[in-house]
Amino acid sequence: MQHILSADQFSLTDLQKILARAQEMEEILNKGGTHIAQDKILATLFYEPSTRTRLSFETAMYRLGGHVISETDVTFSSQAKGEALADTIRVIGGYADIITIRSKTKGDANLAAEYAPVPIINGGDGPGEHPTQSLLDLYTIDKHFKLGEPLTVSFVGDCLYSRTIHSLSRILRNFENVQINFVAPESVQIPDKYFQDGDQKFDTISDEVLKTSDVIYTQRIQKERFEDQVLAESLAQSFVFTLEKAEKMHEKAILMDPLPRINTIDFDVDNHPRAKYFEQAQNGVPVRMALIAECLGI
Ligand code: NCD
Repeated sequence: MQHILSADQFSLTDLQKILARAQEMEEILNKGGTHIAQDKILATLFYEPSTRTRLSFETAMYRLGGHVISETDVTFSSQAKGEALADTIRVIGGYADIITIRSKTKGDANLAAEYAPVPIINGGDGPGEHPTQSLLDLYTIDKHFKLGEPLTVSFVGDCLYSRTIHSLSRILRNFENVQINFVAPESVQIPDKYFQDGDQKFDTISDEVLKTSDVIYTQRIQKERFEDQVLAESLAQSFVFTLEKAEKMHEKAILMDPLPRINTIDFDVDNHPRAKYFEQAQNGVPVRMALIAECLGI
C-alpha cells in the first residue's frame, strides 16, 4: 500500500490486515508507544477545519516515535497566494516522508498523489471521501460485532454530503451479510453511486430502524457544503438522537458518530450503554498508527 485515497482501494484481505495491525498498535499504545518511526516526518496539511483527524494523526505519529510538521490555516500558507496544490505537494514531499491532506475540494487528495514523491493520506476531500475515518469506524464495529455475520447498519442524517458515510458504506461492501439503511430527508439522501440493490432508504428514524439496527451512525448536516443555507438550517434539527431513541435500540447495538455532533445526539445520551462515539474517536489513534506504519513500510 502506498497512498490512502479512497475506501474503494481496499480488498477484504487489506481490511483484515489493517484491523490486525491496529489491534497490535493498541497494545503498543497501552505500553506507552514505540520508536519504529523515529527517523520519519509526517506533514499534516489541513485546509478545512479539523480537530480529531489532524490531532489523532499527529498523536499517532508521535506514539510511533516520529515527528510532525503541520500547516493548519490556509490563510497562512502559500495556497493563499495562489500556489498550485501540485507545487505545494512536490515541495512538502521533499521535507516529509508522508503527507496527510484535508481540503475543500473533492479529488484533491488524488491530485496530490499524482505529484507526491511520498505517500499521501486523504484526511477528507470536501464532500468526497474520508477513508481513514471509515477504517477507524470499521475497527470500532469489529470490536462489537463479528464481521461476516448478519449486521444492520443505519446511516442517519446528511447522506448527500457526508464523506464519512460515503466511505464507510463502501468499506462495508467487502463483508457479507451487511444490510445498509440510509435514513435522511429526500433532499440529502444518498447519491446513487453509493446505493446498492438490497439497501433501504427511510425518511425518519422509525421504531423499525431503531429496533433492527445493530449500528446507528449519525452525521450532522454538513452546512458548509450547502449553497442554500436556509435549507441547511431547516434540516439541521431534523434528526436529533434522544435518550428515548437510545432506549429503543437492542442491547448489543451501538450508536456511533464521527463527531462533531451538531444537533445529532443529545448530551444526555452520552452515558447510555449504547453510546460509543467517544470510544470511536479514541480508536483513531491506533488505526492511524497502523496506517502510517503500513504506508511507510515499517
Ligand atoms: C467528519 C469530517 O470531517 O468529515 N469529522 C471527522 O473527521 N471526525 C465529520 C463531520 O465533520 O461532520
